[in-house]
Amino acid sequence: MNAKEVFLKHQSQISKNPICLEVSHAKGIYIYDKKNKKYIDLVAGVSACTLGHSNKKINQSIKAQLEKYTHVMVYGEFIQKPQVKLAKKLADNLPKKLNCSYFVNSGTEAIEGAIKLAKRTTNKSEIIFCKNSYHGSTHGSLSFMGNEERKSNYRPLLPGGKMIRFNSLLDLKSIDKNTAAVIIELVQSGSGFKVASKIWVKKIKELCKKFGAILIFDEIQTCYGRTGKLFGFQKYKITPDIICIAKGMGGGMPIGCFISSNKIMSNLKEKPILGHITTFGGHPINCIASLKTLEILLETNLITEINSKEKLFRKLLNHKKIKKINGTGLMLGVEFENEIICDRVIKKCRKNGLLTFYFLFEKNSMRISPPLTITKKEIQKSCQIIINSINECL
Ligand SMILES: Cc1ncc(COP(=O)(O)O)c(C=O)c1O
Repeated sequence: MNAKEVFLKHQSQISKNPICLEVSHAKGIYIYDKKNKKYIDLVAGVSACTLGHSNKKINQSIKAQLEKYTHVMVYGEFIQKPQVKLAKKLADNLPKKLNCSYFVNSGTEAIEGAIKLAKRTTNKSEIIFCKNSYHGSTHGSLSFMGNEERKSNYRPLLPGGKMIRFNSLLDLKSIDKNTAAVIIELVQSGSGFKVASKIWVKKIKELCKKFGAILIFDEIQTCYGRTGKLFGFQKYKITPDIICIAKGMGGGMPIGCFISSNKIMSNLKEKPILGHITTFGGHPINCIASLKTLEILLETNLITEINSKEKLFRKLLNHKKIKKINGTGLMLGVEFENEIICDRVIKKCRKNGLLTFYFLFEKNSMRISPPLTITKKEIQKSCQIIINSINECL
């Protein structure tokens, strides 16, 4: 059996037509297949490979940590330098209200932790979430996904969820004294990167304050510079009570984190103790990779350059078949007239050596979320391939 046959037979499949690109190696913004065909990667492991593939500095720091120790104890008992340094670096670059990190394994686990923490803190259980939101695929996160089709066969899910429309000021009347938490994405990851309006986020913050509800920002995809700020909320000048991060924070390694204040986090310590438990959360290899990613982002101009890179994409992706470009920073959703053309373009791009991808709920749009290290020249080349691919599809 070759690798493809094993993949299809012995690995669980989650769609009928997986891409089946057989990866040989990856470097920078490029992925190479087994025939050494080179692809520009505008997906970056779905916004995860912040500094590109096989980043030398991240690899070096991983290797150095490997020589010291890997897993030694479940989360929260031993003092491990990679965790400590990462927690400090995060606290140094976040508002005081967000000075306490809990490291987990993935985005969805960060959401689970945040929801549990909101319940413990408020002694309430009603969670407000948005239509077309995506917060992860485990049962808790799934309960607050704003798409019934994806949820219905998994019911019963967690009770207490109340759905509102994204950016609807009218629907904010749902926030009241029963609300434990409001969870929002500042850029909706599943709906083609629709951006939350400033006035809407501000109003939510006010209402959470009024009714003693916890405001949770799901920054799992917007963190670590992707929007042009280290964290997306910095564009809004609004600090949530809990922020969830993952994906890009690992620089290609699996890590997630929910962050709040010491005061709120202390609710996980008692009644009962061990409010959230994880064996591998805060794994030293993943924390060191995250720390190195963060250090590089802070030491270079990568984040400040995002704005001009976004502008270049927007300028060069000018074609009559492109209806509009949603999103912000290096998370852009290219919207076509319909899903047929969108699907064709994605496939044609792949044939032409460029990887882009679909969105969960927005079928007319194509994702652009490259490593933040992509250069202007590489953006020009990418846009040329996309435009050529659209023309070939007509
Ligand atoms: C906004 C958002 N929240 C949560 C998740 C879930 O993260 P993970 O796949 O690491 O569980 C994702 C993943 O796509 C996401 O984009």
